[in-house]
Amino acid sequence: MSEKRSSFTGKVGFVLAAAGSAVGLGNIWRFPYLAAQYGGGIFLLVYLILTLTFGFSLMAAEIAIGRKTGQSPIGAFTTLGKKYSVVGYIGALIPALILPYYSVIGGWVLKYMVGFVTGEGAAMASDTFFGGYISSRSEPVAWFVVFITITAFIVILGVDKGIEKVSKVMMPLLIALIIFIAVYTICTMDGAVEGVKYYLLPDFSKFSFKTVVAAMGQLFYSLSIAMGIMITFGSYMKKDISIEKSIHQIEIFDTGVAFLAGLMIIPAVYAFSGIEGMNSGPGLMFITLPKIFETMPGGGVIGVVFFIMVFFAALTSSISLMETVVSVFQDRFKMDRIKATLTVLVVSVVLGLISVFGYSIWSDFTLFKMQMLDFFDFLTNSLMMPICALGTSLIVGYFIKPKTLIEELEIGGKFKSKHLFTVMIKFIVPICIVLILLSSFGVIKI
Ligand code: PFF
Repeated sequence: MSEKRSSFTGKVGFVLAAAGSAVGLGNIWRFPYLAAQYGGGIFLLVYLILTLTFGFSLMAAEIAIGRKTGQSPIGAFTTLGKKYSVVGYIGALIPALILPYYSVIGGWVLKYMVGFVTGEGAAMASDTFFGGYISSRSEPVAWFVVFITITAFIVILGVDKGIEKVSKVMMPLLIALIIFIAVYTICTMDGAVEGVKYYLLPDFSKFSFKTVVAAMGQLFYSLSIAMGIMITFGSYMKKDISIEKSIHQIEIFDTGVAFLAGLMIIPAVYAFSGIEGMNSGPGLMFITLPKIFETMPGGGVIGVVFFIMVFFAALTSSISLMETVVSVFQDRFKMDRIKATLTVLVVSVVLGLISVFGYSIWSDFTLFKMQMLDFFDFLTNSLMMPICALGTSLIVGYFIKPKTLIEELEIGGKFKSKHLFTVMIKFIVPICIVLILLSSFGVIKI
């Protein structure tokens, strides 16, 4: 990325590219299972509030830093001050840790996609299929390796623009299909309406600090913030584009897809397994969707189409994750692109295998009572991203000062949320994150 810095063309170019990176498994797989687990409506409410405050301010800060310095995260923070580079390094490490386990889930998607093609749909609808599959020895390894190798190939061949074009067509279709599945479920399944209520009506007695921690981690993950990626995107953004407007568009798009995915999955879980089903965790989407498809006329075909689209959404995100890591390797270790990509591939396969085996041969081994995939997810979302967000807010709030970035934010148009931005970055973001981290480490109980 240190080579010639190209710019996004046109006003929509930036938003589409950022949305392509933002919309992925985080929206379709991760958001619904967290919303189900953390109380439904109350999670949704907390998530929406955080999007408009935390999400907005941090994304604005990152894009502005990127556009101002014209560099990717490590270089950008170093330009702001040598001692700040550590935040850039932490940020750069996050995608490297997400990519492996993201590709493990990508492998699950591939398995289900192929399963529906080969007529395994009915078998996959059984309660025990998913658990049996991920605990089997070799198949999950194979699909994971296939997924991450496809990603690496695309990064090496530089054909990601082609993939992006395909997914630009796929994305609206995916959204239409999600809406269709949601409406179908709600209209035809007994008990689904109860699930809609669980999802949409906040029950304040279910509120806990954990809800905020989970929603915040999800927010960072889903919007691809607090890991330097938006700095890189900002560095490609032209000066005449309004950062504020672009953020609103990205947030509406990303949150809209997550919201709809929840509406597709949660009422169905309610219909199939009642409130007990809400705690299924990472397998939720893979357990519920085949069951819905099984009840639908033509469900086999819909299953194939659905998983193909999810595969493309996952692929655009995994490509942008890998691109980021590869560019760090290129810049720091002066490697050429192919060598850097192959190195990232090998390291990611090794790290990903730890997550895969965590469900099978090493299933007795847990870290802090978590399976390995959950551990990597927790490490990045609940610890490293908050640390990165804290570092960014402190540097912007107290060292380079919000007004430096506000000047940048005003270049492409009026920056209406100036005051919100300043108060969030200086006070609310750092205070909340310190509380979150202290509670994550068990220092305080909230
Ligand atoms: N935001 C993506 C998702 O929600 O699936 C995950 C992600 C993609 C994070 C790309 C970071 C990234 F660079």
